[in-house]
Amino acid sequence: MLLEVTGLETRYGLSQALYGVEFAVGASEVVSLLGRNGMGKTTTIHSVMGVVPSFAGSVRFEGREIRGWPSFRVARLGLGLVPEGRQIFPNLTVRENLVATAGAGAGERRWTLENVLEMFPELVARMDIMGNLLSGGEQQMLAIGRALLTNPTLLILDEATEGLAPLIRDKIWACLHRIKQSGQSILVVDKNIRDLVKIADRHYILEKGRIVWSGDGEALTANRRELDRYLGV
Ligand SMILES: Nc1ncnc2c1ncn2[C@@H]1O[C@H](COP(=O)(O)OP(=O)(O)OP(=O)(O)O)[C@@H](O)[C@H]1O
Ligand SMILES: [Mg+2]
Repeated sequence: MLLEVTGLETRYGLSQALYGVEFAVGASEVVSLLGRNGMGKTTTIHSVMGVVPSFAGSVRFEGREIRGWPSFRVARLGLGLVPEGRQIFPNLTVRENLVATAGAGAGERRWTLENVLEMFPELVARMDIMGNLLSGGEQQMLAIGRALLTNPTLLILDEATEGLAPLIRDKIWACLHRIKQSGQSILVVDKNIRDLVKIADRHYILEKGRIVWSGDGEALTANRRELDRYLGV
């Protein structure tokens, strides 16, 4: 497995958010983390990335224990995050946003400015504009392009289609399918299960900081009625 997480425990002050979270992502696999608001999806991602400290468990990436590493070292090892809320640098241009962290990852140089712009042609005419002047959809494309340019071994997306118009959403999903086809390993968090089932090989459901179910898309669809209480739909 590329990423293997076991027994992961995280708390914010006195309140515990993760209780022994366990999941794995294989090479060239697309895996989803599902769950209602506040169940611990972002906390899990932030704990893996070293953005928030965890206090127990194991995070192995390519066989190496990385729990407790600072996030810049985790990123450099090859984990690329498209964060919730995009987190574009507002006072950098689109070009500067794209190249600010480029080449940080350890993976092979599959993604270049050229092929990222080929995938997101909307950004070409916006290259010298400040990041905060982009539309929501353009900002999301920029956030994905920025993460790809680090050439991550594992791309992690936290709610990459949230708050976007349906047409823009479809565009982002189409791009994610292209990224998957390139052989990219992906961990994806999203609320749109119908789109997730089309792209993810396997799914995990988080409920109050615990993994309560895992399975492939077929199993998810077959057990939908029973699982809906965890998915809030
Ligand atoms: N910075 C923080 N300080 C304190 N508590 C937090 C913090 N971030 C998250 N929490 C709490 O941790 C729990 C998990 O939150 P988290 O953001 O991981 O959920 P989520 O599954 O990503 O939700 P959403 O779907 O709304 O993004 C929630 O109870 C939340 O209130
Ligand atoms: Mg979240």
